[in-house]
Amino acid sequence: MPTLNLAPASVADYRRLAEARLPRFLFDYLDGGAYAEVTLARNVRDFEGLELHQRILRDVSARSTKTTLFGSELTLPLALSPVGLSGMMARRGEAVARRVAGAFGIPYCLSTLSVCSVEETAAAGSGPLWFQLYMIRDRGACADLIRRAKEAGVSVLALTVDLPVVGTRYRDVRNTMSGGGGGWAKLRRGLISYALHPAWALDVGLGGKPHILGNIAPYVANASTPADFSAWANASIDPSITWADLEWIRSQWSGPLLIKGILSPEDAAEAVRSGADGLIVSNHGGRQLDGVASSISMLPRIADKVAGQTKLLLDGGVRSGQDILKAMALGADAAMIGRPWVYALAGAGEAGLLNQLKALHGEFSVSMALTGKVAVEEISRDVLFGLPIA
Ligand code: GLV
Repeated sequence: MPTLNLAPASVADYRRLAEARLPRFLFDYLDGGAYAEVTLARNVRDFEGLELHQRILRDVSARSTKTTLFGSELTLPLALSPVGLSGMMARRGEAVARRVAGAFGIPYCLSTLSVCSVEETAAAGSGPLWFQLYMIRDRGACADLIRRAKEAGVSVLALTVDLPVVGTRYRDVRNTMSGGGGGWAKLRRGLISYALHPAWALDVGLGGKPHILGNIAPYVANASTPADFSAWANASIDPSITWADLEWIRSQWSGPLLIKGILSPEDAAEAVRSGADGLIVSNHGGRQLDGVASSISMLPRIADKVAGQTKLLLDGGVRSGQDILKAMALGADAAMIGRPWVYALAGAGEAGLLNQLKALHGEFSVSMALTGKVAVEEISRDVLFGLPIA
């Protein structure tokens, strides 16, 4: 019997819906990674390689998936990662994501490079709102961004440190999203996109305006297209920052500070010494240095180095509730998803994102039960059977 496929069930299903709805260049920007996409695939594959240890006959009738992170009670140990240009994937995408995540009881981390500003996003919902920051060369603009985030009610700042320079994404080059390809190529791409994706064109292309990058708009002179903003970002993200600059961030922001883009135990220890309240183990979703290890394979090594001294989060390759459990088993306090939430929002709208979060929650809860756990604090390495990664 062929499957009817009337309703999306998995992250892969939402990915297919997003692929059908989005113009190719946007889908590729979201879905793709750097260079040959080796790390992108490794992030997912290394989760698949971990075997769960099924346990039986333990009373698992009363379970709680709740946890507390940076003073907020969460429905489950999960947060939405920052994804640039989400408001091009879905109409006012960042504001909608914030509304859904807040209602569901998990944090949403807004990207510096988002369509909706931090003010618009904050006003769209409630619950913990985090803000991802790039260090901007113009420290006045950077300080202003931090001030705006604070005033909008952001509770946690996540400084991304793995993008001092931008890794080439072959798909973006081919689509003239980045690199060469002149005005005509871009115009042709735009016209073809609108013609071939009318639902997106009406809803997001026309209905979702303005397509500016709301956080950085005040600092960008004479910009009108997303490409102008990307050019500003490429020129303005400061590649000269070092550990010493964290002190400057600290002078501007007194709340919880996360360092996003940690992949080395030594850097993790340095970040703790520098006063970070949490680390996001991440290779930027395989979008930066292709060939680096997966996030999940580095997590236990980082956890061994800094155990108990800081909060640990992880993104890269999380595609199911089982993966959330695996990340917790290897030392994470919470997992984060990037592409999955945007697939759901782009492919199936607000209801789609809510359904995806419900599904991940359900999977996580079932995975806890079938590994004999009834509370998040009980999750440890014993839910994994053997460890193919040291
Ligand atoms: C920006 O952070 C990107 O990964 O495209």
